[in-house]
Amino acid sequence: MMLSTTGSAPAFAPRVISLTSGKGGVGKSTLTANLALELARAGQRVLLIDGDFGMANLDVMFGLRARQSLHEVVQGEALIQDILMPVSENITLIPGGSGIYDLQKLTAIAKQTLLDQISQLEESFDVVLVDTAPGITDNVLFLNSAVEEIHVVLTPDPSSLTDAYALIKTLHLKARENRFQIICNQVRDQQDGERIFNRLENVVARFLPVRLEMAGIIPMDPHLRQAVRSQQLVGRAQPQSESAEAIRALAREIVQRQRLGECKGSLQFFWRQMVGAA
Ligand SMILES: Nc1ncnc2c1ncn2[C@@H]1O[C@H](COP(=O)(O)OP(=O)(O)OP(=O)(O)O)[C@@H](O)[C@H]1O
Ligand SMILES: [Mg+2]
Repeated sequence: MMLSTTGSAPAFAPRVISLTSGKGGVGKSTLTANLALELARAGQRVLLIDGDFGMANLDVMFGLRARQSLHEVVQGEALIQDILMPVSENITLIPGGSGIYDLQKLTAIAKQTLLDQISQLEESFDVVLVDTAPGITDNVLFLNSAVEEIHVVLTPDPSSLTDAYALIKTLHLKARENRFQIICNQVRDQQDGERIFNRLENVVARFLPVRLEMAGIIPMDPHLRQAVRSQQLVGRAQPQSESAEAIRALAREIVQRQRLGECKGSLQFFWRQMVGAA
């Protein structure tokens, strides 16, 4: 694969990407973990942030268990550097933890300490992938408004479409987001994926001044389900499977996509937004 690696972005700032959805269980975490694998294989240094605070499970996707998480950082019991978890070659995870906490409630000093720690990470990664919880909670809105590119994951389930629309609408109204990447997951075939995308686009075009772009189509694949069940990545267990190939294509699409060149794509910006210090 002809992909650029380090040094390609001006005044180096990693590109920060989210995978999000209105409806739960559409495949965000599975896709995030597998996307990380494919990006890493393509030479990108990947930082994964498990933004599903409280129900975090990206560590499990790699067959591992985090001992510490952002929860301990917020409690002042650990530094970011302490919780960074190497999960695979070129992939580092910031675990989300299993207790609810609110980054915005940190004291001013704690926020500054966190931001100082983050600034030391900026040049260590090419891509930052953020997995979110489903739905329209404040946390999901903060995470998405802090990233450079939002990927909304959809499935053929009709409620996934209406929930995606509600999420896009809220992100537009509350965070002035106007560009969304769409990933159609668990589809029968390419046509099925295009049909779902067109349906969402038709509704959006009628009511909202936002732009949707098709980022990827991932088929429903029993190999993927089996891999999740055995806490493996399908890209490792069955690298030639349909879903692994499609996730590889998605990774390629992301790397080749032109960056927006906004101030947004940096870890500093992301964390400033997250803790409400922007
Ligand atoms: N392309 C696919 N083919 C087959 N099964 C899939 C596919 N994508 C997701 N799944 C199934 O859907 C389940 C839920 O996936 P996952 O946990 O990644 O969703 P999620 O969106 O992160 O859920 P939550 O909203 O609860 O965080 C997986 O365990 C897997 O079995
Ligand atoms: Mg998840």
